Formats: sequence, structure tokens, C-alpha cells
Amino acid sequence: MPAEPTVIVVGSLNADLLLDVERLPGPGETVTALRAGRAWGGKGANQAAAAARLGARTRFVGAVGRDEVGEEALVALERVGVDTSAVARVGEPTGSAHVLRDAAGENLIVVVPGANALVDPGHVESSLAAIPDGEVVVVSNLEIPDDAVLAAARACAERGWPFVLNPAPARSLTPELLALVTVLTPNAEEATGLGPSSPAALLAAGVDAVVVTRGADGVDVHAGEAGAGPARIAAFEVDVVDTIGAGDAFTAALAVGLAWGHPLAEAARLAVAAAAVAVTGPGARGAELSLAAARSLLESRPR
Ligand code: RIB
Repeated sequence: MPAEPTVIVVGSLNADLLLDVERLPGPGETVTALRAGRAWGGKGANQAAAAARLGARTRFVGAVGRDEVGEEALVALERVGVDTSAVARVGEPTGSAHVLRDAAGENLIVVVPGANALVDPGHVESSLAAIPDGEVVVVSNLEIPDDAVLAAARACAERGWPFVLNPAPARSLTPELLALVTVLTPNAEEATGLGPSSPAALLAAGVDAVVVTRGADGVDVHAGEAGAGPARIAAFEVDVVDTIGAGDAFTAALAVGLAWGHPLAEAARLAVAAAAVAVTGPGARGAELSLAAARSLLESRPR
């Protein structure tokens, strides 16, 4: 590891409980699920699985509990080609998420962090220090502690690696972390909950590029000169089965594109296509995501 382009994901892993409801409950309300199912999830593990399925050499750095669920979750990642040798076993149960989906495709997620809360900055630091030089892109998200995310960002700054941060779930980011981010990938709601309240303010805080995902409205790429408007990339029209994990596939594909040396706009186009493929299957990883599928969507429309 690695001489070939590599994506390292420093993030969370969950076992998802998927609950289909007619409509999402309001405060104080109880609703009955129409059906329930289980799937592998966690933004970090989803991002790692997507990067591997798109053909990148991929390593996941995170934590699971000393339990069967954790071991099974790692087997599922290894099956799609993710290197899980840098995953710690810790004294909290493997993370889980309760995902409610309504008939209109809206969702509501409650995450129980468990082992993810124990992802340790020292572990992140030593795991990244063990990676030989090369074309490496590191991806992280906010389902693990701030100091672990910062450790990943600092390692990237030292090694000259791009650092892609999917700021979900959104919370205020420190000036130090913002200044170390190469590409930030919030959705439209998250983009206003990160401290600086607009993409322009995030760029002014030192983020190199902000790519805001807007679901069916496509994505806005904010980069470069202050005052320059964003470049919009339209979404693809596909038969949507489940939007859970679309942002994870997007962030992963963007990182894969950057690891392959694509310019940001090119990587973002690949990411829009990968996210479109990702929503055609159930759960966060249920679609047939592959580079061929994403490329064939890209080729289906003029540049
Ligand atoms: O982004 C989707 C993921 O968010 C789900 O898989 C769930 O585990 C939560 O982490």
C-alpha cells in the first residue's frame, strides 16, 4: 500500500435498521412501521464500499465493537475489496443507525455512535503514517470525534494529500479544520450548519472547494475566485429506490476521481453519476454501483 491511487476513509461504520413508514413521526408521536430490514451502513463504511466498487484501492480506518455485528460488517466491506486491517476493536458496541423512510422518499436517521465515538486520533495518526507516499486521497465525515477528523486532516497537510470532508451530520467546524479541507461535500441543509454560513464564507475560511449536493437539483461546485458563481452540474434522471447513502457514494466517487488525478469538475461529474447509480437500489449500499455503470450514465448525455 499504496503505489496505485488509493482512497483512505477515516470514518464511521454502522449496522442500519431500515424502517419504512407511511409518514415520518412528529414530536411525541408513535407510528407503526410498514416493514423493517437490516443493511450495512455508516457514512465512512458506505464511502469506503463505494470507493472500492468504483475500482479504487481502498482502506477503511475506524472502529467496531468486540461483537459479531462488527466482524460481520468488516467481512461485508472486505467482500467488496476494502482493506479493513486498520480497524480497531474497542470496548463499545458496533455503531448502529435507525433509518426511517417515508412513502415520499424523505428520511430521518438516528445514529447510536457506539464504537464510532472511540475512533482515536492516535490510531488515525499511526494508521495514516503507515501509508507509503503515492496518489492518496483521504476522506472523512463527522460521525467520528472531532479530534480524529482533525488528526486525519493534519496528516494530509503533512503528506500533501487532498483531504475530502463530508460534513455530516453537520456541526460547527473549527477554523483549524476548515483551513485544512481540500473539498467539503455538504448537502444544502448541512452547508448552513458548519459555522461559516455560506459556501463563500467557507472558502474564505480556507476550504479549497465546496461542492454542495442538492439531490434532484444536481450539485454546485464553489471554488476559486471570491465572487465567482458556482458551477452547476445537473443530476441524472433515474428511477429512485432509496436516497440513503447517495451523499456517501457522491463523496467517495469524488475522492476516487481526485485520486486518479482528475480535475475537480471532472471528479464532481463522476460523483454525480455515481450518486445517481447509488439511489437505484435499497439501503445505503444496495445498488449495483460500479465504474462501468457510472461511466455509462455519464456517456448518456453530452458534456
Ligand atoms: O449516509 C447514510 C448513513 O448515515 C446510513 O448508512 C446510516 O448508518 C448513517 O450513518
